[in-house]
Amino acid sequence: KTGVKVFDSDVLVLGSGIAGLYTAIKASEQFKVTVLTKKTIEESNTEHAQGGIAVAIDEADSPTLHLNDTLRAGAGLCDPLTVRILVEEGLICVEELMGMGAQFDYHDGELALTREGAHSQRRILHALGDATGWEIERALVAKVKSSPNVSTFEERFVIDLLENDRGHIVGALVLNGETGELESHLANAVVLATGGLGQVYSFTTNPSVATGDGMAVALRAGADLMDMEFVQFHPTALLIPNAPRFLISEAVRGEGAHLINASGIRFMENIIGKELAARDVVARAIWEEMNHGSVYLDFRPIGEKRILERFPTIYQTCLKYGRDVLTMPLPVAPAAHYMMGGIATNSYGESSLPHLYAAGECACNGVHGANRLASNSLLDGLVFGARIVEKIGDKGPGKRPSWEDVLSPEGSLNVTGIYRSKKPIDAQSLRTHIQDLMWDKVGILRNETGLREAVGLLLGWEQEVLSTGSVHELETVNMLTVGVAIAKAALDRKESRGGHFRSDYPVRLDESWQKHSLQHKEDNDV
Ligand code: SIN
Repeated sequence: KTGVKVFDSDVLVLGSGIAGLYTAIKASEQFKVTVLTKKTIEESNTEHAQGGIAVAIDEADSPTLHLNDTLRAGAGLCDPLTVRILVEEGLICVEELMGMGAQFDYHDGELALTREGAHSQRRILHALGDATGWEIERALVAKVKSSPNVSTFEERFVIDLLENDRGHIVGALVLNGETGELESHLANAVVLATGGLGQVYSFTTNPSVATGDGMAVALRAGADLMDMEFVQFHPTALLIPNAPRFLISEAVRGEGAHLINASGIRFMENIIGKELAARDVVARAIWEEMNHGSVYLDFRPIGEKRILERFPTIYQTCLKYGRDVLTMPLPVAPAAHYMMGGIATNSYGESSLPHLYAAGECACNGVHGANRLASNSLLDGLVFGARIVEKIGDKGPGKRPSWEDVLSPEGSLNVTGIYRSKKPIDAQSLRTHIQDLMWDKVGILRNETGLREAVGLLLGWEQEVLSTGSVHELETVNMLTVGVAIAKAALDRKESRGGHFRSDYPVRLDESWQKHSLQHKEDNDV
């Protein structure tokens, strides 16, 4: 009656990065699973991950040391119990990932471990030198494709979630990018694993798919978002005109590269931790230094042989843009990299809405606090993806929702958000406005005046536009939704902590301020 094609399964997973695919594989041992992904199955932030996956396997290391480093980097905002789960259950998950075919690098017969900022130990597993995410994604995609219980659909964009008349999430309304048709994917459990939102900023290490869709659909459906002010800016992205802000892994500094200014001076030398201080500290130091001139990453202390062995992708990519890192320092600058906040969940990935779960970057379960420790994100996707499946298994598959569940008596769909048009938008120009505004006013350094201006403009734009058009338009509306959430949370937090730095409130407040920010649909209404 609505002209919408209907599909069903027990578990619907939205997103095909590490969290989505690992959750799907684990769930397929008990359930019929559907994975939807908005581009190709391989395209995600995971695929571009370089540094690796942190896990305490070295004899000199322990989960407790990993926990302590994570809490320290998180600047008082991590949930210690959830971090304990991350560092302990992470060991089993990484073993399982290897069992699924992911091959990490070895050195002298042992798994090779590198170091990154704010880690007290060498504990980062890597693959193919600096293409860890590519290797993990390769293994997971192969596993998913060989699993008879998993159906994958590419080019499927989630417009909004579907709910029944009891407010349970029972599926998603989806745009088929190949045919332009609408589809309804129903399931007893819906898992958002849609990744991050780096594209909200003018400069980002993230691929074009990272537009915050999962957080936006969850918010519109009524789920809580948590800690949205905490965006991580990676200190070192490539800075060459007309080149993308390609990530230059923190592992490069971990292996000995130096940050230098235009005079060749190591400007991090007097800061505790030097080039390997926590990410927010290094990013701000570079940002400050850029007021005086360019900043460079000098690979040469690592040595030619080791650079070629450890960083083949980075080496080749820089060469493509005319920079030979074996012989000359590389111009770098910070870029938006990772969202610490997201859909608020408990330690089983349950959101505040029944039957809606979230894992990976789109989720906020308390493990990253105000600043994620390097290489903890792939681990987060594994551990909390697995726990979602544990929870769904405990609850049992339940009765699959039927088409009638999502139809109102008038026959229209119970869609939770934007699937109602206001007026057409010039998505490209709006997108550029959002990105520039977010970079200028809600970026590495923030203040009251800039944040107020950003909130005002974003809300004004939000009032004008809603779209049912192309994927590009729908993404742009989502970017606006999450942009408002970030700017409002940043305006409300009158202190500096981790990735959130207020030049008008530069000091971190005492423990009574160690609280999370929460946002709900009504807070974002105009
Ligand atoms: C990097 O290789 O520097 C990125 C790793 C991460 O974001 O954790």
